[in-house]
Amino acid sequence: MGKDVFVVGAGVIGLSTAIRALEAGLNVTIFAETFPGDKKSIKYTSCWAAANHVSVAATNALLHHLERETLPVFLGLIKEDPLVPVMVRPHRAYSQVFGSDDQKQNDHLSECYSDFRTLKANELPDGVAHGAVFSTVCIDVPRYLPYLMNRFLSGGGRAFRVTLPSLSALLSAKDRPDLVPFPPTSTNTPPSFDPVAIINCTGIGAFSMGDVKDTNVYPTRGEVLIIRAPWISHGLFYFFKDNHMSYIIPRQSGDVILGGTFQVDDWHPVSRPETIRFIKERGIEAYPELLPLSKREMRNIEDLDVVEECVGLRPTRKGGVRAEVTSLHVGAKIFPIVHNYGHGGAGYQSSWGSARLAVELLKSVLE
Ligand SMILES: Cc1cc2nc3c(=O)[nH]c(=O)nc-3n(C[C@H](O)[C@H](O)[C@H](O)COP(=O)(O)OP(=O)(O)OC[C@H]3O[C@@H](n4cnc5c(N)ncnc54)[C@H](O)[C@@H]3O)c2cc1C
Ligand SMILES: *[C@@H]1O[C@H](CO)[C@@H](O)[C@H](O)[C@H]1NC(C)=O
Ligand SMILES: *[C@@H]1O[C@H](CO)[C@@H](O)[C@H](O)[C@H]1NC(C)=O
Repeated sequence: MGKDVFVVGAGVIGLSTAIRALEAGLNVTIFAETFPGDKKSIKYTSCWAAANHVSVAATNALLHHLERETLPVFLGLIKEDPLVPVMVRPHRAYSQVFGSDDQKQNDHLSECYSDFRTLKANELPDGVAHGAVFSTVCIDVPRYLPYLMNRFLSGGGRAFRVTLPSLSALLSAKDRPDLVPFPPTSTNTPPSFDPVAIINCTGIGAFSMGDVKDTNVYPTRGEVLIIRAPWISHGLFYFFKDNHMSYIIPRQSGDVILGGTFQVDDWHPVSRPETIRFIKERGIEAYPELLPLSKREMRNIEDLDVVEECVGLRPTRKGGVRAEVTSLHVGAKIFPIVHNYGHGGAGYQSSWGSARLAVELLKSVLE
């Protein structure tokens, strides 16, 4: 049948979508500038994520739906394959003050996570007015992205590294930049110029892609630390009185993410010393157990075992995730484009739902 589908982007969204498109029997090729295993880059948000699945009530209905659909898929992966780099851990939510919005968020969480439970007063640490606990998944990002890539390649998918000036550059012999097979050892020849559709999974995409820019997309900058603390066995969101949230997300590897910031429209690509200091101070205030046992009394931020300082740009979009079909005119031809980007701080927790939806849109254009 020769139904060639192009997926642009190899972040968590592009990879998950490409896997689902392969499973639907299509001939799928990924094109991207950055791939799993590359040196970390500010242009590749997926490599910086924490990442867990904790649904946030403030966002829109479509995203909620996609998040809900994604949790059981992760749980299924764990069941099928004990080596998958995703684990179930208890997650605690602590608040210093508790108002009606917090109550709404709690009601939402109790609908999403079946073992959600409000903590009793005698279970709360000093200074915490309200707390809850439930089980959810934590994704070990540096292992999960290569896991997705391998799943795609071993399923018969092909991939090429390329920096695209536009999506249409993939569709004409005149404009197409050089394609380098990924992995470089593969002997795949580049596909033709007539895919049945292109799936646009370029995240924040703003670094190039000169043709049509979606001006609704902007970054929510996240600065976090990776801490070595293999003794931490649960996640934590700690809401301070002043609205700052400290968060802790453990990984299978024994590393722990300590966050962090949510800075709207801030493109600064590297960490800021004063922010790092603030994250550390709030982190050990919220959870002194981040420090090694012998150092806990002193509460000195210098005793945190910092592995890395990280900055990622969450691809946020006014109006939320873009899940729709448009078309691209190249010469006399018209190509359908399925959009799947703008997942903000929720790309992992909505990944499998988004992939399913994009492939459904794809099938609708193929009919
Ligand atoms: C600190 C932090 C913590 C986070 N924590 C969580 C969490 O706990 N849970 C959660 O669900 N999410 C979390 N996120 C959000 C999550 O990381 C993003 O939603 C997700 O990674 C977006 O993935 P993406 O595939 O859309 O984009 P990206 O990962 O940025 O991928 C974009 C792809 O498109 C390619 N591309 C773009 N432009 C071009 C071009 N011109 N030519 C060729 N290729 C191009 C890139 O090379 C790349 O391969 C967090 C993010 C940060 C920063
Ligand atoms: C997939 O694409 C390649 C390259 O364009 C082509 O050689 C192959 O026949 C295609 N396979 C299917 C099943 O369409
Ligand atoms: C593809 O997605 C990017 C967002 O990353 C957007 O700016 C761009 O407009 C989309 N491309 C097309 C041709 O619509």
